[in-house]
Amino acid sequence: MKLILDACCGSRMFWFDKKNPNAVFCDNRQVLETLGDGRVLRIEPDILCNFKALPFPNKSFYLVVFDPPHLRRAGEKGWQAKKYGVLPQDWQKELRQGFLECFRVLKPNGTLVFKWSEVQIPLSAVLNLAPEKPLFGDRRAGRGGQWVVFMKEEKQV
Ligand SMILES: C[S@@+](CC[C@H](N)C(=O)[O-])C[C@H]1O[C@@H](n2cnc3c(N)ncnc32)[C@H](O)[C@@H]1O
Repeated sequence: MKLILDACCGSRMFWFDKKNPNAVFCDNRQVLETLGDGRVLRIEPDILCNFKALPFPNKSFYLVVFDPPHLRRAGEKGWQAKKYGVLPQDWQKELRQGFLECFRVLKPNGTLVFKWSEVQIPLSAVLNLAPEKPLFGDRRAGRGGQWVVFMKEEKQV
């Protein structure tokens, strides 16, 4: 079993080592496509799965990173939708279930690192969907993204 789960890895942009042997990389898409500007979009998860139903037992990982789509609207053929995905209509339910699953597969006292970008939905609206209160994070609103850190308290499942 790996130590770290990236629950929706996309093209692993934020990883220094995109093949980190301690991590398992998941996403619900497999993509190899040249974008309009010539960049190659490569999404190659180790496991194709849904973050709302992760195929791992409870308490599997020391660290989970959760960087779900942050856009509700994006041009269907635009590069942002292709690169980041788009949230469904019932995005609150989607993210709530994603948070619950990430916490479920975390070991007690494990760390969840959540990434968000407030382009269309404020961070506060999304943090309300998490089952735990965050510890700390980057609270500056920014299009580039914000990082928020949680710890799963031992009492949790
Ligand atoms: C913001 S991007 C992740 C970017 C990534 N962290 C990186 O560094 O490149 C969000 C990813 O979530 C994936 N995704 C969307 N809905 C999902 C779901 N229900 N289950 C698993 N992955 C999902 C998308 O395919 C997309 O690759």
